[in-house]
Amino acid sequence: MTMDNLIYLDNGSTAYPKPQAVYDFMYEFYQKHGVNPGRSGYDKALETEEVVMSTRRMLTEFFNGTDPDRLTFSYNASDSLNQIIQGTLKKGDHVISTTLEHNSVLRPLYHLERDGFVEVTHIPFDRKGFVDPGDFRKAFKENTRLVIMNHASNVIGTVQPVEEVGRLCREKGIPFAVDASQSAGALEIDMQGMNIDMLAFTGHKSLLGPTGIGGMYTAEGVEIRSMRQGGTGVRSAVRTHLEEFPFRLECGTLNTVGVAGLYAAQKWIREEGLGNIHDREMALWDRLRKGLQKIDGVITYCAENHKDHIAILSFNIEGLEAGDVGTMLDVDYNIATRTGLQCAPLVHEGMGTYEILGTMRFGIGPFNTEEHIYTAIEAVREITSIKPATVAEIEQ
Ligand SMILES: Cc1ncc(COP(=O)(O)O)c(C=O)c1O
Repeated sequence: MTMDNLIYLDNGSTAYPKPQAVYDFMYEFYQKHGVNPGRSGYDKALETEEVVMSTRRMLTEFFNGTDPDRLTFSYNASDSLNQIIQGTLKKGDHVISTTLEHNSVLRPLYHLERDGFVEVTHIPFDRKGFVDPGDFRKAFKENTRLVIMNHASNVIGTVQPVEEVGRLCREKGIPFAVDASQSAGALEIDMQGMNIDMLAFTGHKSLLGPTGIGGMYTAEGVEIRSMRQGGTGVRSAVRTHLEEFPFRLECGTLNTVGVAGLYAAQKWIREEGLGNIHDREMALWDRLRKGLQKIDGVITYCAENHKDHIAILSFNIEGLEAGDVGTMLDVDYNIATRTGLQCAPLVHEGMGTYEILGTMRFGIGPFNTEEHIYTAIEAVREITSIKPATVAEIEQ
């Protein structure tokens, strides 16, 4: 429960609240170390740089990367996904992606496709919400230069077989990029074991940092061009942007307060244990799923069991629009959710929920409780029972 008694079940959009230690550390850090890192040799600048470097080290270890310099910061996942897509593709290339993608992947690809720059194949997901690695094998072409896919869906929460897809890409020598916006901080990610070449993450979801910070990890040997050039704080006499990491993919002053938030959040996640957080969230998810599935008129999507799932649940109430249900939950029950197409229109096309304007989405976070879940189930039960009669029912 938050201070205003809001039941926050919109953690798929952003995690809220963050651990208290994250707020405290950001405040203290900015007061004590609010200077520019990596540019000067005085103590405060070096101390600030040390927090940035420690965060690069922690996240590199967290994703099982090998070189902290290859952990580069950006604004958010969208920013890094643009960097990956625009920084690896050339005119005439073919890209494979999936229909599970967020607009942060769909739109950059669509723009390149619309402008006649690349050709895109979207692999569809099955009834349970998973893509089949075999479909990727069939989609490879001579000119396929990138496979980019979602790790965990922000609409239905299904976790995709990235390791198998990564293996196929390795065999073919095709760079493999993963959008870990929903999975980073929720699931273990092993870049090497999963054959991932580029991993994009955002700081404000399960990584439990603030908004405005995200980034990517680029494996050794991956060719990627810098999409922005500018100051790096070092070797100012060089005319071109520096090629070495992290400078290649960063320019200008970093969001150091955001990095500090990620630093404190990493410590918190490590103390709690990633697996413990996930197990707690999934136990609540299972309660929610079972509770909703017992209510007549509620349809849940791709939520058969908690295997290969994160704590996101999409559902609808027959005869009601998701937007209206969301408003009732908000106004009458003080429950925050996300409704509509959730920035992933192809998922809704695949599920047949596009025409009915999407779904309701509950996203569970580390600070949700059983009481929140029971209240949410009861709220949906009440809304379902008071739902207005349809025209067909009236005319019966
Ligand atoms: C799967 C997925 N990809 C990308 C994003 C974009 O993240 P951000 O808005 O932090 O850039 C989101 C956020 O909702 C997401 O869920």
